[in-house]
Amino acid sequence: MNHNTYDDNEIVNSSSNLHMADLMAIRLSRRQTLKGGIGLTATTLLGGLGLTACGGTSSGGLKLGFAAVAKNKLDVVTVPEGYQVSILHALGDPMTYGEESWKDNGSETAESYNRRIGDGHDGMYYFGMSDTGVYQAERSDRGLLCVNHEYVVQPYGLHANGITPGATRVASEVEKEIYAHGVSVVEVKRNIGYDMSMVRGSKFNRRVTSATEISFSGPAKGSTQLKTKFSPDGTKTRGTNNNCANGYTPWGTYLTCEENWLNVVSRSAGDNAKRTTKEVVALNRYGLPENRKSPYLWDTAGTDDLFVRWSSSVTGTTPAEDYRNIANTFGWVVEIDPFNTTSTPAKRTALARINHEGAWPAPAVVGQPIVIYQGDDARNEYIYKFVSKALWDAKDVGGGMAVGAKYLDEGTMYVAKFNADGSGQWIELAHGKNGLDANNTSYAFEDQADVLINIRLAADFVGATKMDRPEWGAVNPLNGEAYMTLTNNSNRVPASATTTGTQLKPDAANPRYYEDTYTNSDGSSKVNKGNPHGHIIRWKEDAANQAAVKFSWDIYLFGAEATATPDVNLSGLTAVNDFASPDGLYFDPRGMLWIQTDDGAYTDVTNCMMLAAVPGRVGDGSMATAAGGTTTIKGANATPDTVRRFLVGPKDCEITGIAVTPDGKTMFFNVQHPGELGSIAKPTSAWPDSQVSGSSIKRPRSATVVVTRKDGDNIGA
Ligand code: FEO
Ligand code: CA
Ligand code: CA
Repeated sequence: MNHNTYDDNEIVNSSSNLHMADLMAIRLSRRQTLKGGIGLTATTLLGGLGLTACGGTSSGGLKLGFAAVAKNKLDVVTVPEGYQVSILHALGDPMTYGEESWKDNGSETAESYNRRIGDGHDGMYYFGMSDTGVYQAERSDRGLLCVNHEYVVQPYGLHANGITPGATRVASEVEKEIYAHGVSVVEVKRNIGYDMSMVRGSKFNRRVTSATEISFSGPAKGSTQLKTKFSPDGTKTRGTNNNCANGYTPWGTYLTCEENWLNVVSRSAGDNAKRTTKEVVALNRYGLPENRKSPYLWDTAGTDDLFVRWSSSVTGTTPAEDYRNIANTFGWVVEIDPFNTTSTPAKRTALARINHEGAWPAPAVVGQPIVIYQGDDARNEYIYKFVSKALWDAKDVGGGMAVGAKYLDEGTMYVAKFNADGSGQWIELAHGKNGLDANNTSYAFEDQADVLINIRLAADFVGATKMDRPEWGAVNPLNGEAYMTLTNNSNRVPASATTTGTQLKPDAANPRYYEDTYTNSDGSSKVNKGNPHGHIIRWKEDAANQAAVKFSWDIYLFGAEATATPDVNLSGLTAVNDFASPDGLYFDPRGMLWIQTDDGAYTDVTNCMMLAAVPGRVGDGSMATAAGGTTTIKGANATPDTVRRFLVGPKDCEITGIAVTPDGKTMFFNVQHPGELGSIAKPTSAWPDSQVSGSSIKRPRSATVVVTRKDGDNIGA
């Protein structure tokens, strides 16, 4: 989300990470050879920056075939020569014919957001749909597009004059914000050529908001820690919110992930005294100490249950009389069946509760478990893996929520430990194993529900590796290797420093400490310290077994400015591919990797961007010494043939969320919070209308963009 500073997520991990002995290996069935990528017509369009035909590293014969876009600060999306963009939908656009069009003055009613596109477009996925309205994975000309609406972008957008300031919120504004969060599902179809548009009025169009009823399923369903006034038996809740990145399942459902729910959950002064010691430990570990007001103050808007529920303060005598457990109802992976508009979404508790950036599946293989990688986006947090108990049966495609229960309600959670020698291990987080039981003196884990709800505490205890803010993950369909962005970390300190509080020294997997100068808009400058530009780590599961407990890793790419010293610019980035703060990450079905940025460290030079890449494999590089002196293992250096800037977004935005149709001819991506550093009185952006219409609509809005090639050929190739 916003990037007023280069590193803006909560930091709450102060654990000392007790080291423990290697763990008993589990035996899961072997992953079979992955299928190769689909064929493609590689028309190589070179020029612009003087690129020549590629002879370098490529995956499956895949080659980048476009002229790199130069860094810029324009208020438009800049795409390569030969490409074009259109806007699919933006904040407030009506999904039905019963609503008026966006008025640009905040006059839309709160309730109408149940039928309008929400704010803060983020993760998304395209599901092909058949003529009869069921999941058809290979269908490219008609489908359902699920988009996350992460948060309400201040200060434009929803309200007449931005958010009304004050110690208490205006009820009608909060109500509108509640409905502007969540997920939109819209039918999309091709028009002329490969451009696509939203089918307004489609029976599939649907909103899931921060007020929608959602069930709990899996091991934590019915836990004492999930009981609320709304659900005294802890089996359901209302709303999904702060939906950041996403996942998808091979049976055709959408996974939406709850990240910065601390934005809307408060806790009053003096609340600790009404809690058990365990509860206080858990609340603090998830960033909710007593006397914490949420940034959006939803709980202050009135006495209606719609607002009161956002305070986690103890007010009743039992959990069934208040919302003391509201924090435990967020941070989950939520499954939605986009093809069944009356189905109830489910919070799949077997995938645990964290600041869920996303949930990225490895390609499903018949007879093997479903494997889903997950990142917890906060400084010093961890990378996780879920392995289902049920083995994949291709007959389950199209089975909706019932099939979701089969694969996602029972399985094993692991957390990653990265060793300095390039090896790694997945440590099992199961009650009764690895010291995770009621005798644990750091936190007495009562049962598996307790482990899943408070998995950060479990990961601390088993000695997982604290990472530089895990954001998106993606699995290479050509070789099964997994990638994850580590966007940045202002909390790393020099290896020679004496650490205090939550500070961390570099380690092999998060190796850089350096300082970088940033020029503010008024001409003054500041120095960003730590790992301001971020990196992308990747790992290969042992013996090509995605469910393995051992892996090998290297650092695929280091974000850097091209002019940085070689120990900062460790991947050898140049003007055609330098970037900072990688966030979104996506392998398209051909094996082309797309890297998106949410940056506050290089935005004095360029707006956020998206790059295309054809990566090699773990171990294709060398040992290196990073700035600050820590030894690491890096992948092969980037070249213009292997990493290239594909687009640059409008002012003050982040580029996030991406989907490509199975035929590779239509791409969707999201622009979030354009113009966020301005105000209604002094706007800094008029996107998306700056791009397409020149109309009287001037408020910048988050939106989904459609990219196609003018010659109708494959995107990026
Ligand atoms: Fe919502 Fe960590 O990005
Ligand atoms: Ca700089
Ligand atoms: Ca993100």
